[in-house]
Amino acid sequence: MERIQKIIANSGVASRRKAEELIKEGRVKVDGKVVTELGTKVSKKSIIEVDNVKISSEEKEYYLLNKPRGVVTTTSDEHGRKTVVSLIETDKRIYPVGRLDYDTTGALILTNDGEFANNITHPKNQIDKTYVAKINGILTIADIMALKKGVMLDDIKTSPAKVKIKKVDNKNKVSIVEITIHEGKNHQVKRMFEKLGYEVLKLKRERIAFLTLKGLSSGDYRSLTPKEVNQLYDLSMNKK
Ligand code: URA
Repeated sequence: MERIQKIIANSGVASRRKAEELIKEGRVKVDGKVVTELGTKVSKKSIIEVDNVKISSEEKEYYLLNKPRGVVTTTSDEHGRKTVVSLIETDKRIYPVGRLDYDTTGALILTNDGEFANNITHPKNQIDKTYVAKINGILTIADIMALKKGVMLDDIKTSPAKVKIKKVDNKNKVSIVEITIHEGKNHQVKRMFEKLGYEVLKLKRERIAFLTLKGLSSGDYRSLTPKEVNQLYDLSMNKK
């Protein structure tokens, strides 16, 4: 038996909080009857519907993919481009946790666990993501400080980033910079550099929290271990 809001959140239909609202609003049925009491315990065999649509309670899967360039981070693409989901062999309806641009490579989690996905992507949970960016120009000390303090994007200051210069090529005027952020605004890393006058020529996500790409070539993936899933859950819950 499990609490009904947990089952709804796990199914990916809504976050735990949103699931609670759906229940209070009378939009949830268990075995055909409306349930409005939060915390109602429900058997795994029960049929749960939200707005008269049955939710699935399939087994959870978690993958870490080394995303190649030229693949979209969606479940389907209207222009027929290859999707990250198509790279993973599974009969479950998995989806990407967060987004990497079409031309960005590196670490991407995919799962069919909605609550897990919400936890990992919610900025308040402060899951660190580390990127390596190749940028045009030589990053100045002043600009490193600016990134560390946070830059204004859409009138909101980004949270302080951790920044490390990995390499400077004075001849070709490019820098390789490691940057760690925990937010996930659209094109955030590219826009942070753009704001300071640099163009990101290449971008790779090398790490999500403690997960690295060790042993994964471009396009390869592996399942997360139960221990890793629990650690990620713990990390995100502790920050709440
Ligand atoms: N920031 C970006 O600009 N692009 C990505 O794909 C990820 C983070």
